[in-house]
Amino acid sequence: MRALFPRPETDVDPVLAYALPEGVGDERPFVRCNMISTLDGAITLDGRSGMLGGPADRRVFQALRSLADVILVGAGTARAEAYGPVLLAPELRALRERRGQPPVPPIALVTRSANLDWFSPLFTEAEVRTIVLTTIDCDPGERRRGEGVADFVVAGDARVDPAQVLEYFHGAGYHSVLLEGGPGLNADVVHAGLLDELCLTLSPCLVAGDGPRVLAGEELERPLGLAMVRLLEDEGFLFCRFAVGPDRQA
Ligand SMILES: NC(=O)c1ccc[n+]([C@@H]2O[C@H](COP(=O)([O-])OP(=O)(O)OC[C@H]3O[C@@H](n4cnc5c(N)ncnc54)[C@H](OP(=O)(O)O)[C@@H]3O)[C@@H](O)[C@H]2O)c1
Repeated sequence: MRALFPRPETDVDPVLAYALPEGVGDERPFVRCNMISTLDGAITLDGRSGMLGGPADRRVFQALRSLADVILVGAGTARAEAYGPVLLAPELRALRERRGQPPVPPIALVTRSANLDWFSPLFTEAEVRTIVLTTIDCDPGERRRGEGVADFVVAGDARVDPAQVLEYFHGAGYHSVLLEGGPGLNADVVHAGLLDELCLTLSPCLVAGDGPRVLAGEELERPLGLAMVRLLEDEGFLFCRFAVGPDRQA
C-alpha cells in the first residue's frame, strides 16, 4: 500500500496511517465513518458490499476496527451483511492492549424494532457483549429475549438519536467510534452534525443499477464540505480519508 497524499510514501501501514492523535475524543467521541463505493457511487452489488472489496480493503477495514473503541452499525447493515463478532489478528489485538483498550471493540447496533437474531454469533460468540441502541418503543418481548446476550440502551423516542448515542459512549469511556453504515444511519449522524471523518474506499469498478449511496434520506440544505487528510492506493483501490472541519458543518 502506498501513500499519494499528503506526501508520497511506500509500504504504508494502515494502522499508522489512520491513527488518531492523543486526546481526540476526550470531549465527545470522535466519529469516523468507513464505507466502500464503486466509481459510479454504488455501495452495494446485489444488496451487499462484499464483492466491491479486495485484500487491501480488508486490511484497511481491519485496521480501522482495531483503532476504534466501539463499532456503530445500523441493524439493516448487520442483517444484510450477516454481521458476526469482531475478530482481529493477534498483532492488532496486541496493539490494542498496549494502548489500554480491550482486545476487540464491542459492536453497537442501532435498531428501532430490535428484531434481531439473538441466537446468531454476533450475540452468542461476541468477546465483548454487543450493545443494542434502541428507542422507548422497542418491542418488550424482543428486549426480554435479547437481554440475556446483549446490553440494551434506550437512546431516543421515535428514532435512535445520534447525540444520545454519543452521550452514552462518552459516559462509557469510548473516545473513538467507527461508524460502518448503512446509509440510513450515516445520514442521521451527518444531519445531526456529528460526523468527524469519512474513510471512503473507491473500488475501481462500475456496477450501474440503482444501488444505495453512502448517505440516504433527505438532502442536506447545503453541501457538507470535507478536506482530504490522506490518500492511499493499493491494486487500483483508493483509500480516501476526509475530515469534516469545525467550519464545514452544514
Ligand atoms: N459499501 C459499504 O461500505 C456499506 C456499508 C454498510 C452498509 N452497506 C449496505 O447498505 C445496505 C443497508 O442500508 P440501510 O439504509 O438499510 O442501512 P442501516 O442504516 O444499516 O439500516 C437501517 C435500519 O437500521 C436501523 N436504524 C438505522 N438508523 C436508525 C435510527 N436512527 N433509529 C432507529 N433505527 C435505526 C433500523 O432498524 P430496524 O428495522 O431494526 O428498526 C433501520 O431499519 C445493505 O445493502 C448493506 O450491504 C454498504
